Amino acid sequence: MSGRTVLVTGGAGYIGSHCTVELLEAGYNVVALDNFINSVPGHGLPPSLERVQQITGKNIIFYECDLLDKLGLQRIFQEHNIDCVIHFAAIKAVGESMQFPLLYYKNNLIATINLLEVMEAHNVYQLVFSSSCTVYGNPESLPITETHPTGDVTNVYGRTKHFIEGMLKDISVANKKWNFIALRYFNPVGAHPSGLIGEDPTKAFTNIMPYMAQVAIGNKPYLTIFGGDYDTEDGTGVRDYIHVMDLAKGHVAALDKLHREHQRIKIYNLGTGNGVSVLQLLRTFESVTKSKIPFQICDRRDGDIVSMYANATLAENELGWKAKFTLPQMCADFWRWQTMNPDGYRKCTDENGSPIRKSNNGHSITQNSRRNGEMENAKQNGHQQRNGDSLKQNGHTPCILTNITENGH
Ligand SMILES: NC(=O)c1ccc[n+]([C@@H]2O[C@H](COP(=O)([O-])OP(=O)(O)OC[C@H]3O[C@@H](n4cnc5c(N)ncnc54)[C@H](O)[C@@H]3O)[C@@H](O)[C@H]2O)c1
Repeated sequence: MSGRTVLVTGGAGYIGSHCTVELLEAGYNVVALDNFINSVPGHGLPPSLERVQQITGKNIIFYECDLLDKLGLQRIFQEHNIDCVIHFAAIKAVGESMQFPLLYYKNNLIATINLLEVMEAHNVYQLVFSSSCTVYGNPESLPITETHPTGDVTNVYGRTKHFIEGMLKDISVANKKWNFIALRYFNPVGAHPSGLIGEDPTKAFTNIMPYMAQVAIGNKPYLTIFGGDYDTEDGTGVRDYIHVMDLAKGHVAALDKLHREHQRIKIYNLGTGNGVSVLQLLRTFESVTKSKIPFQICDRRDGDIVSMYANATLAENELGWKAKFTLPQMCADFWRWQTMNPDGYRKCTDENGSPIRKSNNGHSITQNSRRNGEMENAKQNGHQQRNGDSLKQNGHTPCILTNITENGH
């Protein structure tokens, strides 16, 4: 058991919430923050993290906080003995990043600079950064290793990841105390096998699996496939889909590595190494879910990459990590989440973001939670309480200190 305390930025989001399950299971104490720019708020804990507590029977400390609010962030570091950080918080919609580049540069770059400055001020030097295979641009060779050139990025979102990687390299040279791991994710899909947590963005989404599932349940008429004449086996684009729980385990392996070894900065691909075409994914999804997914093939989009899949042997050799879940498991787990929660987490909250129902002790009651006494641990220990007021200092974005602790304070 680790016993160390990790700050998870963007903890209410898709990968952050799944990773928190693995961190709690590995014995980490988790302090999470999020500003809900792309996740569903709750009353106290966001529903995604409420369900993480339900899955693990362990408690999470959560703050509604924007990383652009440096004072709010400082207060969190003052309040807790943070040992290390996993930095998920970012906005990630490629199309939106081209329309609103300043929003992306501000949110992703300034937020990261604030985080690094506050970490340094509190002598916290271990950080795992969520990077992306998008930093490789159009691949020169496949499968892609970490030594493949980077920087020829086709969109603003990807450039923010590339800039941050560069920034981490620079500051690790300037101050030898820093110890960074940047994980370049390929294409995360799937959901926790319980069906309790999954992907539920609040911004418009274009990720393929949520879209496929929306078509399968009849919420959207068909799937649009961009490009059917690429030089691939069936003419559609090829990607390396990785189960989000495999990805989550990769973060625990990375934190262990940071704890054991001081390498200043290391970069690892997290992928399966398998290239899967859009049509192969669609056929697998149909067969696993016993559904029919109508699709239309349209023209290629500018800037789309034909084929991209990882060589992930460095992570296997140095982190002792390897993706285990198969493509059918990724589809089955996503489908379970989708069918158990057709409206995502939104059914857990009313239009103001408050829980729909509350039990006597103030816990919000979600669709599946606490029905079978599964929440005993959280019930006994995890009384939820808003114990901080909204902060508004010097025009900063308010940071609501919503702290859920073992003793309820
Ligand atoms: N999902 C993917 O396909 C993918 C692929 C490669 C890399 N990544 C990276 O992984 C990380 C997590 O991605 P995800 O899929 O979980 O996205 P997500 O949008 O579900 O989660 C990100 C969370 O960060 C929060 N956030 C954003 N800006 C913030 C800020 N300034 N302050 C506080 N919270 C903020 C959002 O509200 C959201 O809950 C991101 O950095 C993303 O760029 C994701």
